[in-house]
Amino acid sequence: MTQAKIGVRVAGLIMAFTVAVTACSGGAGGEDLDAQLRGVIDAHGLAGDPSIGRDLPNIEDPLAQLGMMLFYTKGLGGQQDSACVTCHHPMLGGGDGLPMSIGVGAEDPNLLGPGRIHPGGPLVPRNAPTTFNSGMWDAVMFHDGRVESLGKTPLLNGDDGYGIRTPDRPLGYPDVNAGPNLAAAQSMFPVVSEEEMRGFDFGTEIGNTGEALNGRVRDLLAQIIGGYGEGGGVLSPNGWPTEFRTALGSDAPVDELITYSSIALALGEYERSQVFVDTPWRTYVAGNDDAMNEEEKHGALLFFGEAACSTCHVGDFFTDEKFHVNAIPQIGIGKDSGMYGDDDWGRYLETGRSEDRYAFRTPTLLNVEVTGPYGHDGAYPTLEGIVRHHLEPQKAIKEYDFGAVDPSIRVSNAERYTQAALEQLHENRSNGIYSVRNVDLTDDQIGQIVAFLLTLTDPCVRSRECLAPWIPDDSISDPDNLRLNAVNAAGEDL
Ligand code: HEC
Ligand code: HEC
Repeated sequence: MTQAKIGVRVAGLIMAFTVAVTACSGGAGGEDLDAQLRGVIDAHGLAGDPSIGRDLPNIEDPLAQLGMMLFYTKGLGGQQDSACVTCHHPMLGGGDGLPMSIGVGAEDPNLLGPGRIHPGGPLVPRNAPTTFNSGMWDAVMFHDGRVESLGKTPLLNGDDGYGIRTPDRPLGYPDVNAGPNLAAAQSMFPVVSEEEMRGFDFGTEIGNTGEALNGRVRDLLAQIIGGYGEGGGVLSPNGWPTEFRTALGSDAPVDELITYSSIALALGEYERSQVFVDTPWRTYVAGNDDAMNEEEKHGALLFFGEAACSTCHVGDFFTDEKFHVNAIPQIGIGKDSGMYGDDDWGRYLETGRSEDRYAFRTPTLLNVEVTGPYGHDGAYPTLEGIVRHHLEPQKAIKEYDFGAVDPSIRVSNAERYTQAALEQLHENRSNGIYSVRNVDLTDDQIGQIVAFLLTLTDPCVRSRECLAPWIPDDSISDPDNLRLNAVNAAGEDL
């Protein structure tokens, strides 16, 4: 045999081997797989990075730094036992790792994540969404969209001049106090929520309710932080005026400098600096075929194709920012709905439209690996669980083990509420309202979809070192000595 012939035979063997390997994984392989996926990426107009074209702050910016100090202080809690970070810690995926959050009255206020206990069970009716990539929302924030941009202009985070509606105003009307963007507008509400931060007495002494009470609580908090008026002297020490002067570059008197609006603005800038979009998926979309393996690529094809996930999880931020009834099991105390007030009717609470009953906003899927448990009430501890639910809700509910839900969380009507949500899903489907549809996939295919979802993680969110700029250490001033230095159930620093 000549040298040339041997070469040909070896090449032939390699080719045969490659074909066999790709054939085993089913469907298109190698270059075909990439060609197919790149066709899909083009057809969907994806860039792999939802931050492109946005004006977002850097964590080193003075206002984001001030926002970080505010985000971590229990001084914004009416009982000084709860801070924003209580439920949105960077090391817990920008959430709290619990199905439903625990705010005021925890056994140990500094213990975050699994093991955080409220005697009698959690009082917060929903799962804490991640604050990561807060600057990417352009239409609505919260599971029920109760903070809503009236313009919804892409890339502007609500800062488009049409105004932002908040729960302080009727649906469709702008709130003049909302601030410049959705993140700032949202930051006005956790502090007035009694179970999240306010506690049950703070600000109520003059018998206010509703919007008036909210305004009163925010004014009082601004006075406490600013050390003026009724709030003067509550914090000791109080280094906030100095910090606000530096961050805002202003010498204005404290009662002008430190208002709840400037507090909310800074909190929003801290959240908007949490840009975590550098995923393997982005690298792949940018042109590197090696950034994903075959299983993940098959998962992407299913996600954008047969499984139709991308019809709701749209675009580079993986959400249409709209509301859909998925009938995720309603396991715990819900929000002010139904005869006993412990069901959760989701978007219906804002719009009153029957098809919105049990509808919740489509979440982003960026960094979904670290933002569990999943669903608006954290009903699914695993990604596989919530993916299977989407593919056949009725079967998933039938198999859902309500008995395994932590008894301190479970409400007695959990199964009944879940059935009602399922009926709403069926009704919406038969009325032609776009909803999840049943898709018959093999276990391998479901595994591929989950593998694809894991390519949506920015490695930074798994690294304490990489997240360090968003977690204040001793070098960052602690203006009121009320910083929440978080620990986990094992007593380790987060
Ligand atoms: C006790 C836990 C808790 C505390 C404390 C808390 N949050 Fe939240 N946060 C939640 C929950 C639960 C939701 C979802 C509520 C809903 O949608 O009805 C939420 C929603 C959000 C959202 C919306 C995210 C999205 O995807 O729309 C942002 C942003 C946010 N919180 C920021 C903050 C800030 C800023 C503070 C402090 C001022 C704060 N949170 C304090 C639990 C908490
Ligand atoms: C009809 C719209 C729609 C389709 C199609 C859809 N989803 Fe969803 N998805 C949602 C909504 C709405 C939620 C939130 C439901 C809730 O919280 O009650 C959600 C939640 C999720 C979550 C949980 C995220 C979190 O942070 O809690 C994951 C993961 C997810 N979807 C993945 C998928 C996958 C994978 C597919 C395709 C198999 C898919 N979705 C198809 C609308 C949809």
